[in-house]
Amino acid sequence: MKKVYIETHGCQMNAHDTEKAVYALATAGYEQTTEPAAADLVLLNTCMVREKPEQKVFKRIEYLKHVQLRAVGKAATFGVMGCVAQAVAERVFDRSRDVKLVLGTQSISKLPNLLKQLDQGFEQAIDVTLTKDAEFSEIDLTSRRSPSVAYISIIEGCNKFCSYCIVPYTRGRERSRSAVSILEEAQSLANQNYKEIYLLGQNVNSYGLSGKYRGNVSKLGRIYEGDDMTFAALLELLAQKSEIPRIKYATSYPRDFDPELVKIMDSYDNLCEWIHLPAQSGSDRILKMMRRGYSVSEYMQKINAIKRAKKDYSITGDIIVGFPGETEEDFLATMQMVAEVEYDGLFIFEYSARPNTAASALTDSVSPALKTDRLMRLLELQNRIQNLRYNRYLEKEVEVLVEGVSSKSDDEYMGHTRCNKTVNFPKSDSSIGDILKVKIDKIGKNSMRGNIVPAQGVIWN
Ligand code: 5AD
Ligand code: SF4
Repeated sequence: MKKVYIETHGCQMNAHDTEKAVYALATAGYEQTTEPAAADLVLLNTCMVREKPEQKVFKRIEYLKHVQLRAVGKAATFGVMGCVAQAVAERVFDRSRDVKLVLGTQSISKLPNLLKQLDQGFEQAIDVTLTKDAEFSEIDLTSRRSPSVAYISIIEGCNKFCSYCIVPYTRGRERSRSAVSILEEAQSLANQNYKEIYLLGQNVNSYGLSGKYRGNVSKLGRIYEGDDMTFAALLELLAQKSEIPRIKYATSYPRDFDPELVKIMDSYDNLCEWIHLPAQSGSDRILKMMRRGYSVSEYMQKINAIKRAKKDYSITGDIIVGFPGETEEDFLATMQMVAEVEYDGLFIFEYSARPNTAASALTDSVSPALKTDRLMRLLELQNRIQNLRYNRYLEKEVEVLVEGVSSKSDDEYMGHTRCNKTVNFPKSDSSIGDILKVKIDKIGKNSMRGNIVPAQGVIWN
């Protein structure tokens, strides 16, 4: 068998695309290797949502080629997939003469054909077509990165066109997958003893809103009044009919996030208590320029609905600092909002102009030093809030799904709580895939430590 080395950058959608690529490559006689020097094919699955990762791609190609030349005296075939491949398309070939294969975000199943073209002597192979279909279907994956947590794409692409964001250009128009096929995939995963499904979409809340779902809903039996399959209905369907013990999802979009969803999450034990609801800014003026379609007070209404819910939810978010024209006053409004929300986790990004986006026409007025200064100030605030949020778990028992060996010690396992916090604990006699209770005794910056509660032991294996 030939060998492929794949490096994945960026979001979970990309991690899932890598799994799909591995599956497609297996049909073309490739197996995955973790050794770049041993590879016949090197694929970089790229991200372009911020500036630095894009530059990293071409540096990585140079580096990996160097590794191969030093180890085996020849370089493999290099390919670029993911968002950079989609947006930069054939110009990837100009930026790196080593790249022979460019694969767009919707072309993964075409990998075997493109490789065949290279075998037949073509110099380069490329497919970056984007579909306009409102629906998409999925292959039934046979290889996944984890034996216990499985990603399931439910909606791809994005129609929002937030002014800073390249995703609508790299991932195309929004397409929802049929609820029947999502449920089937969830069931097949439950049968394979998967313990958690993680529903993926750039904006899960607009699932099904592009229509075409009447047929599916009637096939499933009506769960919801109304004709369309919404995200709330999908979540309820999976909660009721799949045998997966834990269901998580990301990412939510504040304007489309219906507080009714929280009631559904409150009603089912298998719907986990975690909501990723990125605000991006706490200034109405900036939100308007970002074209986010909501105000700070509308956002806070949704946050407060989550806080009033029956179950205790973790809320995480994303913030961009240094958007064009962001003043100190705008930034302080963001600080204020972050303090009010009290996020359990926050990703903070410095704004960078992305090609084709509306904001790229604006002057990138906040200096790099000021962007970094704002990022550090916000991070410092978030660290203090997060410490308080995490401290609530000290001496408490949390439910953890054992996902793998801890990166800190071979004697420890790593897993996530229902609200998606990372927990490390001594293995004792637990195994990967177990769901168990861990009593927390130490709080870190972005993780916690504890010990398995012996009396409770494994509660699901
Ligand atoms: N600059 C900085 N951060 C960005 N993000 C998206 N586009 C940009 C950009 N141009 C951030 C947003 C988004 C996250 C995935 O990346 O916060 O939620
Ligand atoms: Fe980008 Fe906005 Fe779509 Fe999120 S909702 S992917 S930020 S355009």
